[in-house]
Amino acid sequence: MNVLITGGAGYIGSVTVELLRQRGERIVVLDNLSNGHREAVNIDLPFYTGNVGNANLIKQIVIDHGIEACVHFAAYAYVGESVTDPAKYFENNLTQTITLLNALRESGVDQFVFSSSCATYGEPIRIPIDETHPQWPVNPYGWSKFMIERVLEAYQTAYDLRSVSLRYFNAAGATTVHGEYHDPETHLIPNVLRAANGELEYVSVFGNDYPTPDGTCIRDYIHVSDLADAHVRSLDHLAGGGMSTEINLGNGSGFSVLDVINTARSITGNQIRSTIEDRRGGDPPQLIADSKRAYEVLGWKPGFPELEVIIRSAWDWKLAHPAGYRE
Ligand SMILES: NC(=O)c1ccc[n+]([C@@H]2O[C@H](COP(=O)([O-])OP(=O)(O)OC[C@H]3O[C@@H](n4cnc5c(N)ncnc54)[C@H](O)[C@@H]3O)[C@@H](O)[C@H]2O)c1
Repeated sequence: MNVLITGGAGYIGSVTVELLRQRGERIVVLDNLSNGHREAVNIDLPFYTGNVGNANLIKQIVIDHGIEACVHFAAYAYVGESVTDPAKYFENNLTQTITLLNALRESGVDQFVFSSSCATYGEPIRIPIDETHPQWPVNPYGWSKFMIERVLEAYQTAYDLRSVSLRYFNAAGATTVHGEYHDPETHLIPNVLRAANGELEYVSVFGNDYPTPDGTCIRDYIHVSDLADAHVRSLDHLAGGGMSTEINLGNGSGFSVLDVINTARSITGNQIRSTIEDRRGGDPPQLIADSKRAYEVLGWKPGFPELEVIIRSAWDWKLAHPAGYRE
């Protein structure tokens, strides 16, 4: 299958590109390298540096490579920045994605896998969160993902463009080749590991008075290899004629901030200092996925659900790539 991967030089995209490549699919990567790394994509693969909002480029790629499906990772993903600069997020994640979708459908591409997010749910009213849980995002980032989901529903009805929107919970972990390297880094596990190797003096714990057993927020961490596997299965679902759907991707079990820090202490053998800071706005006490639909529709189950395995893989990658993709 000929697949266009947008954002393939980013964290989750690069792992998925590699899995699809190993499966023998013909991959083309498009990334503007705003947050991605050229080094994260195998040099043998066709790579375009550009924006997903460049309709002419998309149409040319579809023609030149006979593209049949698109996996769309490209987006800005800093929740806090989306609050202070919503225009940036709506332009990139919403407007450019609509341009991409129009260029694809006008070129006859009718299969689309979308990186959505648990951020589309907002404050949960029940845990675990299944796909029928009401969606009311609490930040512009979440709204940008929510709105693309609605665009995709309308495009299936009107244009027969079929899609799978994958609502990831917290992506984490690494393969031996690819890992998480963002600048700035806002995610907990990479920052805990930066504190473990001395890059950070301490890791900030935002609030320890939540209604959870240890008072810190609980999140559902999902191994990046499991995410990649779900994308491959989503492409198979669409190629087999499957209809559009939205699917949660999570482990179904939650770990607190202190669980993460303590597990990282035992894996790294390092002290890892932490400080308690004020709660951040819009941080729900718990976010845990119900991922039954992923199994029912895609036959998907997480292969690496243990927190130890997830953190160890991230630590191993960090030790092997101390400067991330900069070396
Ligand atoms: N990391 C998570 O925990 C998580 C959770 C839920 C959803 N998501 C979503 O998954 C996707 C991938 O996340 P990630 O953590 O790998 O992010 P990432 O920043 O590592 O990767 C995104 C990639 O998209 C590229 N990009 C951004 N805007 C672009 C544009 N207009 N045109 C071309 N390329 C562009 C960036 O350069 C980057 O390489 C994003 O859509 C994100 O919103 C991530």
